[in-house]
Amino acid sequence: MTEAAIKDQSKNLISSFEQVDGMMSITAAAAFLAVFKQLRQLGVTGHWFETGVYKGKSAALLCGSASKDEDVVLVDIDHHKSWGHLNALHDSIVPVETESEKIEQNFQNLPKYFNKTMVLHSDGSHFYDNVYSDIVLANKLLSEDGVLILDDFWNAHYPQVQAAAYSYLAAFPEHFTFFLTGENKAFLCRPSRHKNLINYCLTYFASDMAELGSPVVISKTDINPKFDVLSFLHKQQNDEESFFGMNIYSHFYQPR
Ligand SMILES: C[S@@+](CC[C@H](N)C(=O)[O-])C[C@H]1O[C@@H](n2cnc3c(N)ncnc32)[C@H](O)[C@@H]1O
Repeated sequence: MTEAAIKDQSKNLISSFEQVDGMMSITAAAAFLAVFKQLRQLGVTGHWFETGVYKGKSAALLCGSASKDEDVVLVDIDHHKSWGHLNALHDSIVPVETESEKIEQNFQNLPKYFNKTMVLHSDGSHFYDNVYSDIVLANKLLSEDGVLILDDFWNAHYPQVQAAAYSYLAAFPEHFTFFLTGENKAFLCRPSRHKNLINYCLTYFASDMAELGSPVVISKTDINPKFDVLSFLHKQQNDEESFFGMNIYSHFYQPR
C-alpha cells in the first residue's frame, strides 16, 4: 500500500472511531495509526493480536490496518455481542474466547502465529500476573519487527501494569525495550529495532499525529540506553512548543 493510501485509510478509521463504544481516547488511536503506518513503511507484515476487545473500539484500528493475508486474532473472555462493525473492516478475524493467560491451553492454532505477529495490544485483565503473562505471550508471538502495546500504563488505578512491565524487562532486557509512551499506552519493540523506531518518532511522529487531528507535545529528556524512550502528551492551547524542553535537551531530539 502506498503512503498516500495508508494516510487515507488512517483518516477514515479516525473519523469513524467515536462511533464505537469503548475506553480508548482518540489521541491514543492516532498514536496507534501513526506507529502502524511507520511499521508498514519499514516493510513490516504479520498477524495482529488483541487481548481485551470489549466492543471492538481499538480492534477496529487493527482490523482496518491489517492486510488481506494477515489474521486479526481477538481474545476476550466475553464477545460482548457487538463486533459486527469489525467484519466490515477485515475478512480474517479469528475470535478466541478465553482468558488470555490461558490461551495456550484453549487455542490450538496459537503456534501458527509464533514469531509471525506484528502487533499485540494487551488490554484485557490488568492484574499483575495477567499483564506479565501477556508480555510472555507477546514474546512468543511477535516477530523481530513486532510491537507490543500495553494499555493503562499511566492509569493511576492500575499501578501494577507498570510494575509487571518493568519487572519483565528487568528479567529479560533482550526481549523488549520501550520506545514510545503516552495517552495511557506504552509501545515496546525488540531491542534490534529500537533505533529505527526512535528515529521515526523523533522525525515524523509529531507531524503524523497533527495530520490525524491529535497534535502532541513530545518529550525526550534522557538518552540513557537503559530507558531511551520518547513520550507524548496531547497539545494544550497554551503549549507553544511541540518539543518539551528543546532549549535544554536539544541534542536528545537529534535522530541517531
Ligand atoms: C478495557 S476493556 C477493553 C477495551 C477495548 N480494547 C477498547 O478499545 O474498547 C477490557 C476487556 O478485557 C476483557 N477481559 C477481562 N479479563 C480478561 C482476560 N483475563 N483475558 C482476556 N480478556 C479479558 C473484558 O471482557 C473486556 O472486554
